[in-house]
Amino acid sequence: MLTIDVKELKPADLQNYLQHSIAPRPICFASTIDKEGQINLSPFSFFNLFSSNPPIVVFSPARRVRDNTTKHTLENVLEVPEVVINMVDYPMLQQTSLASCEYPKGTNEFIKAGFTMQAANIVKPPMVLESKIKLECKVNQVIPLGSEGGAGNLVLAEVLMMHFDEQILDQEGKIDQRKLDLVARLGGHWYTRANASTIFEVEKPNMKLGIGVDALPASIRYSKWLSGNDLGQLANVHELPDLDPAFDDEQYKQIIQYFSINPTELEEELHRYAQKLLNTGKVNQAWQVLLG
Ligand SMILES: Cc1cc2nc3c(=O)[nH]c(=O)nc-3n(C[C@H](O)[C@H](O)[C@H](O)COP(=O)(O)O)c2cc1C
Repeated sequence: MLTIDVKELKPADLQNYLQHSIAPRPICFASTIDKEGQINLSPFSFFNLFSSNPPIVVFSPARRVRDNTTKHTLENVLEVPEVVINMVDYPMLQQTSLASCEYPKGTNEFIKAGFTMQAANIVKPPMVLESKIKLECKVNQVIPLGSEGGAGNLVLAEVLMMHFDEQILDQEGKIDQRKLDLVARLGGHWYTRANASTIFEVEKPNMKLGIGVDALPASIRYSKWLSGNDLGQLANVHELPDLDPAFDDEQYKQIIQYFSINPTELEEELHRYAQKLLNTGKVNQAWQVLLG
C-alpha cells in the first residue's frame, strides 16, 4: 500500500492523485454571463447535487494550479449570480471538451464549440440546445476555499427551472436512466459513460434493516468462495431465512446427488452455485442453496 502525506506532494501531483481517486465525477456544463452581457460556456467536474429541498447543486471553478489565475465562469457568477447547468451526454462530449480551452475573456464558447444558444426562461445565460437536461439556477453563494493555485471556489446554485428532452422520459414523464448516456470525468484524460449497457440496479429496502454480515452463519461468512458482494447481498435480508421444504431446484439436487460423498467438494459446489444465483439477483434461491 502506497501511503502519502499530502504535505509531501507538489500541488499538481496532489491534484493528479485526487482526480484519479474521486471518480467518476458528473460534468456541469456551465453557461454564465458577465455584466456586459458576454456569454461563457465551460465544463466543471468538481460538481454534484447536495440538497433536493432546497434544490442546491455545487460546482467549483478552481484557481489554476499553473499560475493561480481564476476562471471566467467564477468572475461571471460574481458579477451576475445566475447559471444554466447543462448536463453532458456522450454525443456532446468532444464539443464540451473543446469548450474547455482557455479562450480569452469575451470569447463565446457556444460559438467556438459549435453549440446552439437557446434562451432560458428566467435567467440571462442561454441554455445549450443540444443538451437533454438543463437546469436554470440562481447563485446563492460563492465560497472560496483558499488563495493558492488549485484552491476551489464553491458555487452554490439553486435550481429554479428544469428542462428535460422528451426522448429521455418514460410514459409518466420521469427520467428513464437507460435512455440517457451521461458522461463523467475520471483522472487525466479518462472519461466514462453511464448508459443501458453499463448501468445496473442495487435494490436497497429503505424501511427494513439488513441482518448484517456479522449475523451470517459462520459457514457463509467465512466462505472461501463467496465474495464481499455476495455477502453484502445475503446480509441484506431483514431476517435469517428458514429452510423451505418446498425448494425445488434441479441443479441443486444434482449437486447434492454427485458431491454428498465428499463434504468439502459439496460445500464448494453449493457456494459456487449460490454465487451464480446471486449474480443474477436470485437472493432467496441462493439462501436456500446455502441453508440446504
Ligand atoms: C470535463 C472537464 C471538466 C473540468 N472540470 C473542471 C473543474 O471542476 N474545475 C475547474 O476549475 N476546471 C475544470 N475544467 C477546466 C475548465 O473547463 C477550463 O479551465 C475552462 O477553460 C474554464 O473556462 P472559463 O475560464 O471560461 O471559465 C474541466 C475541463 C473539462 C474538459
